[in-house]
Amino acid sequence: MKTIIIQGSARHDGNTSIIGNVLAKNLKADVIDLCKKNIHSYSYTHEHMEDDFFPLFRSVVEYDLIVFLSPVYWYTMSGLMKNFLDRITDCLKVEKDTGRKLRGKAMAAVSCGSEPIATEGFFIPFTLSASYLGMRNLGNLHTYIDEKTPNEHVLKSLEQFSEKLKREV
Ligand SMILES: Cc1cc2nc3c(=O)[nH]c(=O)nc-3n(C[C@H](O)[C@H](O)[C@H](O)COP(=O)(O)O)c2cc1C
Repeated sequence: MKTIIIQGSARHDGNTSIIGNVLAKNLKADVIDLCKKNIHSYSYTHEHMEDDFFPLFRSVVEYDLIVFLSPVYWYTMSGLMKNFLDRITDCLKVEKDTGRKLRGKAMAAVSCGSEPIATEGFFIPFTLSASYLGMRNLGNLHTYIDEKTPNEHVLKSLEQFSEKLKREV
């Protein structure tokens, strides 16, 4: 099983990346850090086709499981993650063969906030997008970091979630 984690924090060494490292170890996954990529927002006239999106996305569709990992910013996913999801539209309109490769592929979504309770509705865009794209949604997990490292409860939930993904992919 080849797994890729798409990490959408606005900083490469923050809380979300800590969660990403734990997940990557559990799942033996590769990690893509969106804040190190140059990905513009969606354009109806398909400008910026030469930025990092297409090379990145062509490699993403070769994985069996795609895990979207985003911090909670203002009750929703980060802007970097939203840009990335918006740009999938380019694949449906311009590079359709690449977009079609998402069909039947497994996905999951993980959030990282500062509170133990998940933000209501946070995962709805991931769930509905997976359905629209014909992807198999293996589920969601909310995590948080209140100190500098994830607590035992969060580590346990990450371990259990990783095992579930490995079983179901
Ligand atoms: C712009 C911004 C908005 C945030 N909004 C929320 C929020 O709505 N709910 C929440 O629980 N935490 C919120 N937080 C806290 C972050 O979700 C939390 O600290 C997270 O672990 C940060 O991950 P990072 O270090 O990868 O950015 C916000 C933080 C930032 C920077």
